[in-house]
Amino acid sequence: MAIKPYHYEPLTDFSVPENRKAMEEALREVRSQFGLSYPLVIGADRIDTEKKIVSVNPSNPQQVIGSVSKADTSHIDMALETGWKAFAQWKKVPGPMRARYLYKAAAIMRRRKLFLSALEVYEAGKTWTEAEADVAEAIDFLEYYGRQMERLSEPVPLIPLDDEEDRAFYVPLGVGAIIPPWNFPLAILTGMTSAAIVTGNCVILKPASATPIIGAHFAEIMREAGLPSGVLNFVPGDGGTIGDYIVTHPLTRFISFTGSREVGLRINQLAAQVSPGQKWIKRVVAEMGGKDAIVVDETADLDAAAEGIVTSAFGFQGQKCSACSRAIIVDDVYDLLLSKIVERTKKLRVGPADNLNNHMGPVIDEKAYEKIFGYIQWGKENAKLQTGGTTLDGEGYFIPPTIFSDVAPGSKLEQEEVFGPVLAVIRAKDWSDALKIANDTEYGLTGSVYTARRERIEQAADEFEVGNLYINRKCTGAIVGAHPFGGFNMSGTDSKTGSPDYLLLFMQMKVVAERF
Ligand code: SER
Repeated sequence: MAIKPYHYEPLTDFSVPENRKAMEEALREVRSQFGLSYPLVIGADRIDTEKKIVSVNPSNPQQVIGSVSKADTSHIDMALETGWKAFAQWKKVPGPMRARYLYKAAAIMRRRKLFLSALEVYEAGKTWTEAEADVAEAIDFLEYYGRQMERLSEPVPLIPLDDEEDRAFYVPLGVGAIIPPWNFPLAILTGMTSAAIVTGNCVILKPASATPIIGAHFAEIMREAGLPSGVLNFVPGDGGTIGDYIVTHPLTRFISFTGSREVGLRINQLAAQVSPGQKWIKRVVAEMGGKDAIVVDETADLDAAAEGIVTSAFGFQGQKCSACSRAIIVDDVYDLLLSKIVERTKKLRVGPADNLNNHMGPVIDEKAYEKIFGYIQWGKENAKLQTGGTTLDGEGYFIPPTIFSDVAPGSKLEQEEVFGPVLAVIRAKDWSDALKIANDTEYGLTGSVYTARRERIEQAADEFEVGNLYINRKCTGAIVGAHPFGGFNMSGTDSKTGSPDYLLLFMQMKVVAERF
C-alpha cells in the first residue's frame, strides 16, 4: 500500500440516523469511563502522584470526567533528562520512518473518532459537530506533518561548487516543551506535539488543565502507535507550579505554546533569560489571541454576511482565537444587517453539549464565566444590548450569545479579547473607515471581508493586517494544508500551523562541505 497524498478528513453528518446512534453509543462509552485516573508518563514509567487535576464537565461541573496525576518540579527534571536520553536514538531515526508513527496514530484516532469526539463533548463542552471537527483536524495534522517530514527529509538543493561536495539537511533541536490550549484540546495538542516529534525532537507535554483527559488519551494513542518511550513525556500540572520552571529550565531547548497573550508574552520573556548551564538560545513558538473582525460593506450579500458573522462569533461559544468578536459594518447597511444578525442569533439554543439540539454549550469554567460576564456588564453600561446578556438556568457555565451594538472604536469591548460568546457591532462611516477600525488593534489573527467590489478585496488583501484573511466567508475553521494558520503582531509568532513551513520551526539546518 502506498502512502496516499494528503487529503483532509471528511466530517460526519449527524442528521444521518446511524451516525447519530453511533455518537450516542460513544457518549455512553465515555460516560462509563468517568472517574478514571490517568498517570504521568515519563519514559517507560507511568507514575501516579497523590495530587491530581480533577477534570469536570463544564455543562455540569458536578460531573467528574476523570483525574490526572500532577507533576511537580522533580518530575519535570526527570522528564527532561529522560527526553534527552531518548533523543540520542530518536534523532537518528530517518524522517520518513518517524512519519510512520504519525500515520499509525492517525489510523488509531480515525478508528476512535467518535469516542474522542464524545470525550470532547464532556470535557470541553463542545457540541457534537465542533467536537468531531476538532478530532478530524487532529488526524489532519498527523497525516499532513508526516508527509511534510518525508518531503523535508530530501537533501536541500544547493549550488554545486567545482572542487567539493556540499550537503545540507535538517536536524532536530533537542528536547522541548509543548504547552497547548484547552479550546482545541485534541487538534492543537496533536499538531504541536506531532510536529515536534516527527522532526526528531523529544518533548514534555503539559496539557491544558481544563482538558487533561483528552491529553492522556493522546499520550496513550502515541504509545499504541509504537512511539519509543521517552520521546513523548506526559506531565500535566499547575501552570503556577511548573510553568515557569519548564520554561526557564536549562535543559529546555524550545517551547511551543498556544494560549493567551499574557502567558505567551511571559514565556517569551522568561525563555530569553539564560539559565546557568544552558547552551542555546531557546526557540519560542507562541500562538496567542485575536480580536478578529468581519468587515461588511454596502455591496455585500447581507444574508451571507449575517450567517458568517453569527457562525464565527458563536461557534464553540466564541472560544476560538479565530472567533469574530467585532462586526464592523458600514453605515448604509448597518441597521439592516444588525437586525439580520440579531434575528439569527436569537434562534441559537444554548444548553448541555451532549444534547444534539443545542447549538451552543457552556464556556469552559467558572473563571471564564466570570470574566465574560465582566465584559457583558461593561457592555451594558457603555453600549446597546441587542440580545443575550442574561444568566441562564442549568448547572453549567452557560452564557447566551450576546450582541452589543454601537460599540465605540477604541473602547474596551472593541479592543480586548473576550474569549466568549460576545459580539461587538461597530458602525463605520464607509469602507475606508471600516478597514481603519479593523486594523486598529494590537492583534492580527483572522479577519473577513464581505464585499462585491474587486478593488476592495485586493485592498483588504494588501492592507488588512491579519495572518488569515477570508473573503465572503466566515473567519473560523481553517483546514490543515489549505489555510496555514497563524497571526501577526500580538497574535503570535505567525508560525503558520498546517503549512509547508511549520516543521522548520522545530529543526535547524546543518551543512557539510567536503573536499576529496
Ligand atoms: N484553527 C482554528 C480556526 O481556524 C483556530 O485555532 O478556527
